[in-house]
Amino acid sequence: MMVKGIAVLVSMSVGWGAAAAWAHDDHPPKKVIDAEAHRPTPLPDRIILTWAGDPTTTQAVTWRTDTSAAAGYAEIAIATDGPEFVKQAVRVTATTSPFKSDLSECHYHSVEFTGLSPATKYVYRVGDSVNWSEWIQFTTASRDAEPFSFVYFGDAQNEVRSHWSRVVREAFRDAPRTRFFLHAGDLINHANSDGEWGEWFQAGGWANGMIPSIPVTGNHEYTGRLLGKSTVSNHWRPQFTLPANGPEALQETVYAIDFQGVRFVVLNSNEKQDVQTAWLKETLAHNPQKWTIVTFHHPLFSAAKNRDNPLLREAWKPLFDEYHVDMVLQGHDHAYARSGLVGTQNTETGTSGQDASGTVYVVSVSGPKMYPLGPAKNAEFVRVAEDTQLFQVISIDGDTLRYQAKTAAGKRYDAFTLTKSADGPNVLTEDMVEMPARMRNP
Ligand SMILES: [Fe+2]
Repeated sequence: MMVKGIAVLVSMSVGWGAAAAWAHDDHPPKKVIDAEAHRPTPLPDRIILTWAGDPTTTQAVTWRTDTSAAAGYAEIAIATDGPEFVKQAVRVTATTSPFKSDLSECHYHSVEFTGLSPATKYVYRVGDSVNWSEWIQFTTASRDAEPFSFVYFGDAQNEVRSHWSRVVREAFRDAPRTRFFLHAGDLINHANSDGEWGEWFQAGGWANGMIPSIPVTGNHEYTGRLLGKSTVSNHWRPQFTLPANGPEALQETVYAIDFQGVRFVVLNSNEKQDVQTAWLKETLAHNPQKWTIVTFHHPLFSAAKNRDNPLLREAWKPLFDEYHVDMVLQGHDHAYARSGLVGTQNTETGTSGQDASGTVYVVSVSGPKMYPLGPAKNAEFVRVAEDTQLFQVISIDGDTLRYQAKTAAGKRYDAFTLTKSADGPNVLTEDMVEMPARMRNP
């Protein structure tokens, strides 16, 4: 039966092939140009949640329309079990800004919902009062250090629609209750390419409207690098509404967000690093949260060849050590590398990948562009990978942080647990006993 089945399939596929060839000759397929594929319309698109303020009482949303929408509005209510929330919905007027991209002109609209109740599910929609998005739900953070999970992605950067989309969607299926997505820089390849940003928003799709994002700037979010006139993508600030609690000169690229017992510190490893160092010290010194996770793009301990960042390491690692930063989440090297036990050596610098401070350093990649691991450097990490697209699910519950790296195909690739100790660094427990030897350093 099996053989017969295959034979039928083969003959059918020959038939379809012949028909397709005929159609192709008469009407060859035409590539849809970017200006068409990413054309704004009166209907809101690129809807994305971010935070500009306290996640317990605020939520920001940003979206795009064509220029026909002179004003933007958001409506919000506490979510109910049926549609009756609509009667309670409150309307908020958006800040609307015209924007000219390399493909088209559009309007970006943003609203920051404020005065929300903590740990509460809300429902909102955005539009121009006639053309609305669907009603979309989100939940505010708790004031308490309730357990939660988040997803961290290394660089998406290339072929974002065709190759990165499966990673973000697999992550969503793997951790559907993730409280946010953290993107550690190089979300796209060309800073001002509207088509590439369009692909990034298409990949996350409607999930971006219900799961907030914490975006980090990578070198590919900067333009004019070769001319020495580096500026952040013209899309960055219009499309992401982010905290203004960083240094003045680096607004919305350097910031801190406290979420249920964890301080997330976002740095910008592309420019004005010295300005950030003083701010970083203050931010770490006055931190009431139990856990501290720092994220930026260029890794302090590189995974790939000839990509060392000694100046960054000299500036920031002493502060990570002094204030016992728990984890550092990075990208840029298009490979995977995660430091481990006390005493693992960084062969290039002679310093430790994880030292007495207990900080765990991770470099990861979620998109399809791959670099080989630096051959001498494998020894400095507990777990490395090349040619592997990954996402990470990180869960914090009281004194315990559980970390898992999963491949694009959904296989668990790395896992460990950090446990707070009364005095001294966190205790790191390796959770992957089944690691293939070829990828593991003893
Ligand atoms: Fe990069």
